[in-house]
Amino acid sequence: MNSDAAALAAWKRAAACAAAELVTDGMIVGIGTGSTAVFAIEALASRMRAGLRFLGIPSSDRSAALATSLGIPLTTFADHPRIDLTIDGADEVERGTLNLIKGHGGALLHEKIVASASHRLAIIVDATKLVDRLADHSVVPVEVVNFGWEATGGRLEALGATVTLRGTPEGTAYCTDSGNRILDCRFQSIPDPAALEEQINRLVGVVECGLFVGLTDVVFIGDAAGVTRLERSLQVPADR
Ligand code: A5P
Repeated sequence: MNSDAAALAAWKRAAACAAAELVTDGMIVGIGTGSTAVFAIEALASRMRAGLRFLGIPSSDRSAALATSLGIPLTTFADHPRIDLTIDGADEVERGTLNLIKGHGGALLHEKIVASASHRLAIIVDATKLVDRLADHSVVPVEVVNFGWEATGGRLEALGATVTLRGTPEGTAYCTDSGNRILDCRFQSIPDPAALEEQINRLVGVVECGLFVGLTDVVFIGDAAGVTRLERSLQVPADR
């Protein structure tokens, strides 16, 4: 690992450990996906070994596997339809609104189900993820059903996106935990994320999009100076 990568990993770990401190005895905890969420899962496992009791609901098969390997007890929506707190990463966090782009790790559908069922959503990022406007750096991942994905992609292009079918290193199409495809959509700008999320999710063939609007309660940002905590502004409407 070079020094930049090591610094980034340290920032992610610091943010994840700070968020893991929010968990209290008896909570149902939504478990996120991605390289930052891995640090949160490890921090939660460490707190569990120190006596903390909680049950996790993972947002992907790989997070479930890691949590299980570390001895974290898991539950399901069948037994616990409401989650007290979810800790998850993000690809972009918009300053001011705390709206997000998620899904570069491919778990956006399950992540949005978990986040939407959560009383509180804590996002953990390194400082490179903060942007002034969503889509400054990142594409918007959109999960679509496999059948007719080309036609669905055309409908996304009609909304102004440049669309790429996500592939794997092996050269096959990426397949989500729910068996769907991902279309990575490049938008020049997103002046109204809530409106775009609604437009995308109305398209036939679309399962869910990676815009997370009005869901975040708190963001932990790791950087060289430590961890900064941003709370949801009173101006951001609570829609859940
Ligand atoms: C998973 O689908 C994503 O939403 C991740 O939460 C997001 O990509 C952040 O991942 P990293 O923590 O690996 O940057």
